[in-house]
Amino acid sequence: MAQSETSNSTNFFLDGNFAPVMQERDALDMDVKGAIPKDLAGNFLRVGPNPVHIFDEAAYHTFDGDGMIHAIEFHDGQAHYRNRFVQTQGFKLEQERGDWVYKGMNSMMDPTPSRVPDGAPRNKNLANTAFTYHNNTLYALHEPSRPTAIQLPELETLGTVDFDGKLKHPFTAHPKVDQKTGEMMTFGYAFQTPYVSYSVINADGELIHTTPITIEKPVFMHDFAVTEKYSLFLDFPITLDIERAIAGGPALDFEPEHGSRIGVMPRFGTDLDVRWFEVETGSVVHTANAWDEGDEIVMQASRSKTSDIASAGLDAENLEDTQGQLYEWRINLVTGVVKEQTLSEEHCDFTRINDTHACHKTRYVYAAVFNPSRPFSFDGVMKFDNETQTTATFKYGDNRFGGEAVFAPKVGAQSEDDGYLICFVQDETTGQSECLILDAQNVAAGPVATILVPYRVPYGFHSGWVSAA
Ligand SMILES: [Fe+2]
Repeated sequence: MAQSETSNSTNFFLDGNFAPVMQERDALDMDVKGAIPKDLAGNFLRVGPNPVHIFDEAAYHTFDGDGMIHAIEFHDGQAHYRNRFVQTQGFKLEQERGDWVYKGMNSMMDPTPSRVPDGAPRNKNLANTAFTYHNNTLYALHEPSRPTAIQLPELETLGTVDFDGKLKHPFTAHPKVDQKTGEMMTFGYAFQTPYVSYSVINADGELIHTTPITIEKPVFMHDFAVTEKYSLFLDFPITLDIERAIAGGPALDFEPEHGSRIGVMPRFGTDLDVRWFEVETGSVVHTANAWDEGDEIVMQASRSKTSDIASAGLDAENLEDTQGQLYEWRINLVTGVVKEQTLSEEHCDFTRINDTHACHKTRYVYAAVFNPSRPFSFDGVMKFDNETQTTATFKYGDNRFGGEAVFAPKVGAQSEDDGYLICFVQDETTGQSECLILDAQNVAAGPVATILVPYRVPYGFHSGWVSAA
């Protein structure tokens, strides 16, 4: 069935502002509180799950929604809002049929016969998770799948890429682009061996290196980290187990006895070069950045003590333990010793940096601050300063929730934090969707501009920023 614009649902991820929108729209001349900075030039992007045809509403999982991009193009103090579906093959098949074709991850064991036609992909490439921008191309990403190229600023879907047939593995939603070399490092994880594969794509978009990475059993490896010299793999204990799922248990589960280890490999290394370092057991979904510092590798990420991913994070009883905190590992390559510590007491995820400096030492980390009383809700944004070891926060206010804030450098930026933080916020009391622009050098002061978007922007996954050429 098709979902309505303002549906109420007993499924958390189809209710309220998680509910999808069906219309593609444009908006210009939107009402603005404050003034849009004139030195903000480029495209702010947010992608997320926006399901149209759902097999079983009760069983719907938020990871299964069709990708929809909400974007605001900025230039000369003006803003142009657009939202568009990513026109993936699976999305188009369901549009043509006018009903569901793919059943979704929680309905894999349902006996209803599949409707996937011969010759069509067995699984939907949802392109709903995150973005990367590389070799002048914007990609919408979905970690079991290939990247989907998107045309800016119109958000037209150009199609999937396989790098001239050289991409042989799934492609993470969180590749790392080293803007100093132009190289993009990526990896994918799978239920079958090799459980992890890794590739490097050069500045011209050519895939020039691939290697398997051996780990003992498959894990949900959503993100990784890259320094100037090394790529880091997170063998942490959210395990993937098909047999467990067939037996009626969760496909994904937190198994602390699996332990936690970080694999360190030179950027162009192979499986044999990986050195594994045991670390305190925990759960890491998103890293912020990593860099080389003398004999050490420094990695910063949001880390939680445990994870209830098997219940899709909806267990509100132990949010304190499942919501991450900013955390640092210092891996000494000479002594083999790993020092680790919590950096900030705020509970946060969706960690971001100024992407211009990815893979190199950064002073600042930005993140979405978790609402302590409702799962999957962020009620503010924070900035952590590695030099002063302090955290600045801005809270959105009563009954107002936001998503991932992305850093957008100013035109002619002079320093790492010379720019803006941009995010969508929903006022759940009034139903108003907003786009907030904060001065990244004064986060606590709140927005310098608030754009009132005339259409509802549902909660989503990751954001992106592409500066104007
Ligand atoms: Fe992610």
